[in-house]
Amino acid sequence: MKVATRITVATAVVVAIAAAAYALVDLRGRAAERRMAVEREARAISTSLKVAFEAQPGFKSPSAAELRDLGHASGGWRVQVFPKERAAGPPSADLTAEQLKRLLALLEAPHLTFTDVEADRYYYDVLLLTKVDNEPTVLGMLELSRSADIIETTSEDRQRAITLVVLIVVVTTIVVGALASRFVSRPITKLLRGIDDVAKGDLSHVILSERDDEIGTIATRFNEMTFSLRESRSETQRQNEATLALEQRLGHTEKLATIGQLAAEIAHEVGTPLNVIAGRARSIQKKSKDPEAVEKNAEIVAEQTARITRIIQRLLDFTRRKVGTPERGAIKLNDLVATTMELLASQFAAAKVKTKFDRGETIPSVAGDSDRMQQVLINLMLNAVQAMHEGGTLAVETRLVRRTRPGLEASAEGDFVSIAIIDSGTGIPAGIKDKIFDPFYTTKQGQGGTGLGLAVCSGIVKEHDGWIDVEDAPTGGSVFRVFVPA
Ligand SMILES: Nc1ncnc2c1ncn2[C@@H]1O[C@H](COP(=O)(O)OP(=O)(O)OP(=O)(O)O)[C@@H](O)[C@H]1O
Ligand SMILES: [Mg+2]
Repeated sequence: MKVATRITVATAVVVAIAAAAYALVDLRGRAAERRMAVEREARAISTSLKVAFEAQPGFKSPSAAELRDLGHASGGWRVQVFPKERAAGPPSADLTAEQLKRLLALLEAPHLTFTDVEADRYYYDVLLLTKVDNEPTVLGMLELSRSADIIETTSEDRQRAITLVVLIVVVTTIVVGALASRFVSRPITKLLRGIDDVAKGDLSHVILSERDDEIGTIATRFNEMTFSLRESRSETQRQNEATLALEQRLGHTEKLATIGQLAAEIAHEVGTPLNVIAGRARSIQKKSKDPEAVEKNAEIVAEQTARITRIIQRLLDFTRRKVGTPERGAIKLNDLVATTMELLASQFAAAKVKTKFDRGETIPSVAGDSDRMQQVLINLMLNAVQAMHEGGTLAVETRLVRRTRPGLEASAEGDFVSIAIIDSGTGIPAGIKDKIFDPFYTTKQGQGGTGLGLAVCSGIVKEHDGWIDVEDAPTGGSVFRVFVPA
């Protein structure tokens, strides 16, 4: 039930009770007034009749006809006179038990009058007295009576009272209802609309508070609340931006740290052959007369220099690509795989490696740098070829998969394109699986391996928001699977 309706109903009930109580008191008052008027009339009539009877020399009871006449003359009253002697005898036809009781009571206290309603009639009784030898002597009892109807509440009175009560209640209900709707319901509805807007996230809602009562106060508080919510929301936004900036700075610092580590590793990798070169150079100096020793040392110097050159070449490949901003285009991975396999066809043939390409259907384009993705494919395919010493099969598969990211199994699934490069080579010993992506980790020291191939691949794929999985191929050999978001 609405507040306004409650107020209206409560007011109507209270007003109805009050009006009914008032009407009841009013009805009683009217009845009392009427009774007093009747009593006054009875007293006036009885006084004149008393005087007439008491002045009569030799009192005698009037006849029934005389009494009827008196009654007519006094306007609807019934007049009766009972001589004092009747009090001695038993009640008879013209003196009822009640009348006898009244006569006896008045004889006891002659100065009183008797007035009452009995059996729907109003009675007024007085004693008739005379003076005998200067002594007051009772002659008899004069009784006036009439129907009690005129002093009783009539149904018309009741009807009028009920109509009045109903009218008051109806008018009160209408007026209070209108006022409650205007001053309670409407402002509350406005407030509710504001609260709904805030619940939906619109903090710009302002409620006009043109009143100075509690509802006006609520509107003011509401506006203050939305204001402070707005403030705290923009404060949170500011904090988020600050956190983001901090994260970016941290990311930058992390990158610098990685570069520092890389630099140390490069220094180590290049330092070792340089030491060898320096040693051999000194040896040549000492044994310059021994052509055999000079030739051997020179050979080693050439070998080590070639190694340094290879490392530097790889690093250049790595950095040149890294430094330039990556191009963001739509890469058709199926086409890229096919071109790369063509590009490496002579290497595959030389190593007696057969190739298979299982082109996945409905592979969507992925966003990224096509040259860099080709670098990934080349590195992985060359690793595969290098793992198959006596030839074998290199299979490539492209697929569209729906899955979660590794380590984020609880998060929502996404669409990814996967490229699997499957070889039938030596496979990767379990002990080194977690090292092969480290820069400069290689098992091909003697064959000119730098250990940078997979590090470069992993970097490029991460740039494309993807990752690389390694597992053992069921037919022996390894599977390198590249995932990038579709
Ligand atoms: N398909 C594969 N099968 C077996 N082992 C592999 C395969 N791919 C990589 N590896 C192992 O991972 C190591 C690191 O590979 P990565 O490509 O980073 O360097 P690399 O191949 O040794 O050197 P580079 O790439 O400079 O020739 C390799 O030395 C090899 O031991
Ligand atoms: Mg390699």
